[in-house]
Amino acid sequence: LVGRALGSVRSASAVSGAIQSALGHHKALAEYVEHYAGLCNPDALHVCDGSEGEYTTFMETMVEDGSMFKLNEAKRPNSYLARSDPRDVARSEESTFISCVNEEDAGPTNNWRDPVEMKATMANLYKDCMVGRTMFVVPFSMGPIGGPISHIGVQLTDSMHVAASMRLMTRMGKAPLEALGTDGEFVKCMHSVGYPLADGKADVAWPCDPDNKYITHYPEENLAESYGSGYGGNSLLGKKAFALRLASAMGKREGWLAEHMLILGVTNPEGKKKYVAAAFPSACGKTNFAMLEPTMPGWKVECVGDDIAWMKFGPDGKLYAINPENGFFGVAPGTSMGTNPNAMRSLDRDCIYTNVAMTADGDVWWEGMTEETPEGMTNWLGEPHNPASNTPAAHPNSRFTVPIANCPVLDPNFEALEGVPIDAIMFGGRRPTTIPLVHEAFSWNHGVLMGASVASEKTAAATGDDIGEIRHDPFAMLPFCGYNMGDYFQHWIDMGKTEGAKLPSMYLVNWFRQDPETGKFIWPGFGENSRVLKWIFERTDGVTDNAAKTPIGYVPTPDALDTDGLAGITNDELTELLRVDPDAWQREINQSDEYLTSTFGPKLPAELKNEIESLKKSF
Ligand code: GDP
Ligand code: PGA
Ligand code: MN
Ligand code: MN
Repeated sequence: LVGRALGSVRSASAVSGAIQSALGHHKALAEYVEHYAGLCNPDALHVCDGSEGEYTTFMETMVEDGSMFKLNEAKRPNSYLARSDPRDVARSEESTFISCVNEEDAGPTNNWRDPVEMKATMANLYKDCMVGRTMFVVPFSMGPIGGPISHIGVQLTDSMHVAASMRLMTRMGKAPLEALGTDGEFVKCMHSVGYPLADGKADVAWPCDPDNKYITHYPEENLAESYGSGYGGNSLLGKKAFALRLASAMGKREGWLAEHMLILGVTNPEGKKKYVAAAFPSACGKTNFAMLEPTMPGWKVECVGDDIAWMKFGPDGKLYAINPENGFFGVAPGTSMGTNPNAMRSLDRDCIYTNVAMTADGDVWWEGMTEETPEGMTNWLGEPHNPASNTPAAHPNSRFTVPIANCPVLDPNFEALEGVPIDAIMFGGRRPTTIPLVHEAFSWNHGVLMGASVASEKTAAATGDDIGEIRHDPFAMLPFCGYNMGDYFQHWIDMGKTEGAKLPSMYLVNWFRQDPETGKFIWPGFGENSRVLKWIFERTDGVTDNAAKTPIGYVPTPDALDTDGLAGITNDELTELLRVDPDAWQREINQSDEYLTSTFGPKLPAELKNEIESLKKSF
């Protein structure tokens, strides 16, 4: 492997001068970079301009040093495959911390560390951690540059892979740096893979420090520090660290919302359009739902975002949302022309794949992509794949990273500075029993309880050996809320009291009910989820005779769900999917009550306690 020195300076002593000449016009920015450069001691500095030429140079350099494979240009133009260290394949929730002055402000659902202690721990790890490497300075904007909901960040990293991925996932380089001017505010995102190359130590294809991972956040200082991991969710700090953990705390202070939500536009056959935001936990269907191809003629879905929404009330009282990201970091397994054709089309070119399998002719493959498993593949570990074995060729959390511009159904308002007006908010998760296909909340506060009560089977998106176990995951934000989740519930309640607000309606959906005997998903899902979307569209459009009032909310009447051409499901199954079982639901409500009360105690808002009580009484 060749060294990674690249860019404007190539000696440690020149780094400081380079910082001053490139960034000296912005005193706070130069100080920030000087601070970490002094600590980490990189050999070289590279301030990213975000150009295509720079991206190409990064990719060529990594192909040359063996950390990226160039895929077959005829099959996947401009696309690459990276294989991670097998100990660095998913988000590390146990290594993720919120460091604020008072422990109570981190709340019962976060790992808390005292900021002074945490900074000392991190400074120890950062000391000389970039020896032999280049420090990349990555200015980026979350949201369209200059928009009223957007914010700028500056990531420092010693990973060329991370710098390149930031260009795919954010608006990165010269433009956000210029937008900062001489004193613009920015969020600090510091990252190192934690693999210094001192004393001529050779580099490896995926440097990391698996035993010393830290992803830590200082919400009071708009600072994130990450060490030891190159996995997207741990290292592309614009995404989970900034756009969710730090931004949720900013939103609490400033009166807006940063959420783990997709955003889509849905247009009916008459040409009327509405926007919907939806929170499902990681690997529970956001990317699929965000760009679904409706199975009903005349309906159209367009994608604004597939993972994160920032939302603020507009002057007209409606809640406006932007997608702060500029790319997709999506789960590969299960993605196919049958399930998510628009994702497949987005992946034709310009992609960085991680931990998928490689076919004999230099293309990619993962479980679920095609019915037949191709012969002669290399698995995600770089070994020949044995199709007879039970081990998958692609890691269950293998991912693609691709610019959002590749999406064939990108919404025309994706770049709208003020965002898009939201008519409905959906929550969901993987629930094998009890939760019907869809139901509507009676009110905003009831909807907040729905969000607070989200629970889901654990998936491969986070490390751990308890995949499949049901855990509570309020608002799908359990791993991402940057402050006390009880205060977060209160923030949602308070947002609903905003003077003049025209509040979205709220829904809970479940695509994952299973046949108890066969374990198979009863609802066909994917494009067929458009039928649920249609019902929600009509509900928000003032149709009232399409729902039955049940103790838990409004549920579609048997004929209200459009089933024209719906195949693969019997009428009995459909009735079962929409049924509200009083016994199971009383258990469900008691369970949520028990979880919320015991976890949040006095921080559980009185409004939510009232909602729980009235639900209990409704049976
Ligand atoms: P995200 O991580 O929330 O964005 O979830 P994805 O959209 O990437 O989906 C994660 C996994 O769930 C993939 O393997 C999908 O194929 C699968 N999935 C997504 N939507 C559905 C659905 O409607 N039904 C079923 N059965 N599986 C789904
Ligand atoms: P996901 O995004 O929600 O699409 O899985 C990454 C993550 O949450 O880890
Ligand atoms: Mn996510
Ligand atoms: Mn996704």
